[in-house]
Amino acid sequence: MKDQAEKLRDMVKAMRPFKFQVISVTSGKGGVGKTSFTVNLAYQLQKMGKTVLILDADLALANVDIILGERPKYNLLHLLTGEKNINEIIWESKYGLKFIPAASGFEELANLSKEKQLQIINALQEIYYKFDIMLIDTSAGISANVINFCLSSDKTIVITTSDPTALADSYAIARILLSNKDEASEIGLVVNMVEDEQEAEKLYRGMNNILREFTGQTIKYYGAVRKDKKLSESIKDRYILSAVYPKSDYSRDVEHIARYLVEGKRPERKENFWNKFLKNLKNLKVE
Ligand SMILES: Nc1ncnc2c1ncn2[C@@H]1O[C@H](COP(=O)(O)OP(=O)(O)OP(=O)(O)O)[C@@H](O)[C@H]1O
Ligand SMILES: [Mg+2]
Repeated sequence: MKDQAEKLRDMVKAMRPFKFQVISVTSGKGGVGKTSFTVNLAYQLQKMGKTVLILDADLALANVDIILGERPKYNLLHLLTGEKNINEIIWESKYGLKFIPAASGFEELANLSKEKQLQIINALQEIYYKFDIMLIDTSAGISANVINFCLSSDKTIVITTSDPTALADSYAIARILLSNKDEASEIGLVVNMVEDEQEAEKLYRGMNNILREFTGQTIKYYGAVRKDKKLSESIKDRYILSAVYPKSDYSRDVEHIARYLVEGKRPERKENFWNKFLKNLKNLKVE
């Protein structure tokens, strides 16, 4: 007999023959940039012509509304109590981004029973055909809610920073996901707030080697996102950085990852003017 968690996974998987793709964003440690990344990734995917729905699955400490600078009227709690249906709780944000808000400070959302999780999945089944991609912003850490959302997704993005504790925690969550996932789902690492991209790739290789040794499986490298002070300004002033400053370091890096997720290959990085100028200067033979 299948338990309810398994049924829930089967139901999400059953959605796959359609165009709908589910991508979860998670992390071991909190505060590493999940919500900002989810929102900016959604914007980039939308710019590429995809219809995107964000589900705020950081159920009891919701943040998507804050990062989007919105005050939605209804949220998942209204769905779970039966006051509103799924279409009524989808909030259209600026730049046309659609999201399903969670509610902060409600304990009942923090530890959702399997029945409640099924209720959400059932409701999602009514609307998924309207979207190409659903991005799920989860809470940090290893809870049953989070693991279930990730294991049911086509792709899970584990976000980390180069901080040793964040790396250790993302290793822990990646290991759990690898040990439980089915073959069809993919797990990839994004290293956030980096100063040096090559350093990020080295961190990934180190983590992947240990994962291979202990689980016999590997995760992908989705990319790195540079530290960019413009991001906190965008949150403070309530705009989406990728929309307002598409050429900022942060926006370019998220766009790069969005392209990799959709196209499966890494777009070439164009060298910027200053790098090229310095390189040319060094190579110049004319005295
Ligand atoms: N690439 C970056 N450069 C600079 N600051 C960043 C970057 N990414 C995230 N931050 C900052 O880190 C802080 C936390 O970001 P965010 O809320 O997105 O993290 P989170 O992982 O969703 O946190 P939580 O676990 O609490 O949900 C924000 O203040 C944000 O501005
Ligand atoms: Mg968050």
